[in-house]
Amino acid sequence: MAGSDSVLGGEEAARQSHQAMASLVDYFTTLIRQRRHSPRDDLISALIAAHDAGDSLSEDELLGMCVLLLIAGHETTVNLIGNGLLTLLRHPDQLNLLRRQSEYLTSAIEEMLRYESPVQRSTPRFAAEPFVIGGEQIEAGQQISLMFGAANRDPAHFSDPDRFDITRQPNPHLGFGMGIHYCLGAPLARIEARVAFTHILERLPAIRLATDTPAWKPVTWLRGLKSLPVLV
Ligand code: HEM
Repeated sequence: MAGSDSVLGGEEAARQSHQAMASLVDYFTTLIRQRRHSPRDDLISALIAAHDAGDSLSEDELLGMCVLLLIAGHETTVNLIGNGLLTLLRHPDQLNLLRRQSEYLTSAIEEMLRYESPVQRSTPRFAAEPFVIGGEQIEAGQQISLMFGAANRDPAHFSDPDRFDITRQPNPHLGFGMGIHYCLGAPLARIEARVAFTHILERLPAIRLATDTPAWKPVTWLRGLKSLPVLV
């Protein structure tokens, strides 16, 4: 993931990233071969069997889909849980409110997605036609990125945007993107976060931060912690 960053990634990170991608491809190539030979009741077997209008996924498409689902489905949710927990622990009034009134869990998770968005920047887009935004001229075909993290703190859309408010309503955040590329896994991610926070709140009544300055991963398009030391 570190090597995937066009802003901070250096040569060494790019080298490690290529190596990691090569082992991920090896891993899935073996797994796909095994599932072709003896299918199971799992996602890879379903992807191999999937047909659409007589067409099926090529080997490269299968590999691409497996890598995408693993990265898009894992790293992001890990960061939602980590960032969300950090934010709750930094806002004890909100944490106490959630402990007292667990019906706020749904809106609390939406607020975590807005306030510390795990995906800060979109995948690349290419302008279909020329336009001007924020005084900048964008030409047709030019590559642009959408800054979800910034949009989620936009004062034109959120009152007091730098305040973490688990009761915030409405909360039209872009934590899962928007439009045709809207996150495929959003419902699953919300369920995972609900399970994680329900258990953390129940099982760790005295949880508190062990450091005021946890380290962030050196990636700008995602936002996530390297680790979150806590005392329980
Ligand atoms: C908290 C967790 C998650 C967050 C914050 C998140 C965020 C996002 C965002 C912002 C996009 C849009 C990217 C863009 O427009 O350029 C996206 C797309 C996507 N996400 Fe997620 N995601 C999460 C969890 C998941 C999970 C669990 C899965 C799969 C199991 C998943 C699979 C995907 C896929 C396949 C796309 C591409 C959809 C498309 O281009 O049509 N995501 N996600």
